[in-house]
Amino acid sequence: MAISNITRKDVAFIYLSLSEADKQKLKDSTILVTGFAGSLGYSLLHFFAEYGEQLGIKKVYGIDNYMFGKPKWVERISKQTLFDLRELDIITCELEFCSNADLIFHMASLASPVYYRQYPIETIDADVTGLRRLLDFYKDRPLKGFLFYSSSEVYGDPAYIPTPENYWGNVNTCGPRACYDESKRFGETLCYNFARRYQMQITVVRPFNNYGPGMRINDQRAVADFAKAVIDNEDIIIYSDGKPTRTFDYIPDATVGYIKCALYGQFDVFNIGSDSPELTILQLAELYRKIGRDLFGYSGSIDFKIHSDKDYLNDNPKRRCPDITKSKQLLNYDPQIHIEEGIKRYLQYLEECDRSEFEW
Ligand SMILES: NC(=O)c1ccc[n+]([C@@H]2O[C@H](COP(=O)([O-])OP(=O)(O)OC[C@H]3O[C@@H](n4cnc5c(N)ncnc54)[C@H](O)[C@@H]3O)[C@@H](O)[C@H]2O)c1
Repeated sequence: MAISNITRKDVAFIYLSLSEADKQKLKDSTILVTGFAGSLGYSLLHFFAEYGEQLGIKKVYGIDNYMFGKPKWVERISKQTLFDLRELDIITCELEFCSNADLIFHMASLASPVYYRQYPIETIDADVTGLRRLLDFYKDRPLKGFLFYSSSEVYGDPAYIPTPENYWGNVNTCGPRACYDESKRFGETLCYNFARRYQMQITVVRPFNNYGPGMRINDQRAVADFAKAVIDNEDIIIYSDGKPTRTFDYIPDATVGYIKCALYGQFDVFNIGSDSPELTILQLAELYRKIGRDLFGYSGSIDFKIHSDKDYLNDNPKRRCPDITKSKQLLNYDPQIHIEEGIKRYLQYLEECDRSEFEW
């Protein structure tokens, strides 16, 4: 199946949002993306598929163990000679085939709380062992940049909203979310020390609640659950009292920030996400319902239930909102796509695509 109109529009947006200096830095790059088949990999790889040649990118290697299956879109992308996408596990695989990569995006992990609670050791392995293997392998090789995808979850239940990068966090080391939060925290510590000892150009990004095309519809994060309810014309189910708050960033919007982080070329830590509006989960559900109604006459209502995962709400942060002053100042990153526009595009994308594009 051909690339969707929304994705074409989204990757054009990414291209236009990068500065000439960013584009110059991308020229002649050989890229490695681990965990490329996940939610965030979709926009990044489609961007390279559409603009890689024009930008002078030499090669894009990908590693993913297809933990939840192989997305259909990977077949479409793999046809381009620019890509060498392999089914491999970052914990065990040989890295020789991608030894000439000089711009690394390490995003292999399990980002959905329902799934990382089911696979806690695998989550720790991808974030800690996988990261350590990559750092060891690339420490003496010439790099333009190495981006480690950490998480806003390193802040736990934060004392400061909006949360700046220099807040150290409030995290439970032994709770059901600790496999994720603590492995991201330790991953950051690994990055810091490899950057210091080997002068590696490592940057750490802390993404804040992304949503949009590329998410597996049965991923079980609220943003995907609500989208599934709308396209299936079923009720939207909230598995809490609806009061926790989050800000949400449309994946292509955040992807601009990730590319800028990867090209930053020195050790630092950046929040990437949207700093407004901070919405309750109920307000988010109401937005999906309203936009679904306007777009396709969605007629479902909003209901509250208890999730079958008994740890669903344990250690769930009450509020999450980034302070992005530093990313604005040092990276010139400024999210552009308002939540209403993002949800609209996401739902239109789902409507436009064959179901096999987002369900696997
Ligand atoms: N999406 C967000 O809102 C968000 C927020 C905070 C942090 N992050 C981080 O960004 C990165 C990407 O997030 P995402 O939403 O795309 O995650 P995702 O869960 O959708 O996808 C992760 C991908 O990694 C792969 N993977 C897992 N273990 C692997 C292994 N051992 N070897 C090879 N591949 C493996 C999976 O098969 C999957 O395709 C992750 O590191 C995540 O923790 C994302």
